Amino acid sequence: MGQVMLLFLGVSMWLLGCRWITHSAEALVIGVNYGLIGDDLPSPDKVIALYTSRSITRLRLFNPNATVLEALQGSAIEVILGTYNEELQRLSTDASYAADWVQTNVAPYASSVRFRYINAGNEVIPGKLASYVLPAMRNLDSALRAANLHVPVTTAVATQVLAVSYPPSQGAFSESAAGVMAPIAAFLQAKKSPLLVNVYPYFAYAGSPRDVRLDYALFTAQDVVVRDGSLGYTNLFDAMIDSMYAALEKSGGTDVDIVVSETGWPSGGGGVGATVENARVYNNNVVAHVAGSGGTPKRPAKATETYLFAMFNENLKPEGTERNFGLFRPDMSEVYHVVLSP
Ligand SMILES: *[C@@H]1O[C@H](CO)[C@@H](O)[C@H](O)[C@H]1NC(C)=O
Repeated sequence: MGQVMLLFLGVSMWLLGCRWITHSAEALVIGVNYGLIGDDLPSPDKVIALYTSRSITRLRLFNPNATVLEALQGSAIEVILGTYNEELQRLSTDASYAADWVQTNVAPYASSVRFRYINAGNEVIPGKLASYVLPAMRNLDSALRAANLHVPVTTAVATQVLAVSYPPSQGAFSESAAGVMAPIAAFLQAKKSPLLVNVYPYFAYAGSPRDVRLDYALFTAQDVVVRDGSLGYTNLFDAMIDSMYAALEKSGGTDVDIVVSETGWPSGGGGVGATVENARVYNNNVVAHVAGSGGTPKRPAKATETYLFAMFNENLKPEGTERNFGLFRPDMSEVYHVVLSP
């Protein structure tokens, strides 16, 4: 009896400890992607003012852009900065190009812009550019260290790197991705840097609306939908992240954290389930989920750092749902309201 009581007390203290940690040190974990594929978007200084006025303290920028980086100076917003996929080959083979990249895109701003991560490539694994990713990461890491800039270097992957994602504990990289992902996992593990993953329950739902429950995708299911050993999943977002954790563990990345570099839901464009109401529900629930309860069933102690996609509807993206992921219209009015700083 005494031991059971002690165990109970111990677990309660531990739970309290976890809640305290997630609520103090990592109280605000939401960021928003700033995509620029539109010809009607507001100027970067207006955009950064909008981030600030909505208390959005993290931003992901897909490619270096001097105007945006200048607008970010002094803003206290933390920034994930990506390379162009087209420059991965050069970055991987030419150390001086990587040094120039850092001198052009990071060093001039480093005293007034808070760089959180640099990502070499977005969603190029598997594929013909995949083999350039790790050498590009290495060259960027060396160049940053040579410049005395301490910014973790990583890459952003889609969940398409997985061959198996269900149930989450069976998550495994595909054969074509595994050869590239294993050494990347080792690099990230050694550097204690996270892997960026783009996580879209929407596409899983839209691809098989008969098999994937909408409430499971939207965080509105009341009960466990997927039971996986001792773990229960009430939402697809956590299940997708945990399948990626399982794959990382099998590839030597046992301690690598996952940062969700993109997630979102389209508010229009004709896709299955692409409505303003679903987008509003999804985005509000994902924010509440990561800001409130913290992590996933597999990694409950630490809130999942998450970046919504995206700030604006972008009119030069492919027609359809792709143009309709924005929280805001180009005139900076809300497409729907999201509580971004709970
Ligand atoms: C940087 O962003 C500005 C503002 O959106 C845009 O006009 C410009 O073309 C961008 N520059 C590059 C190099 O992408």
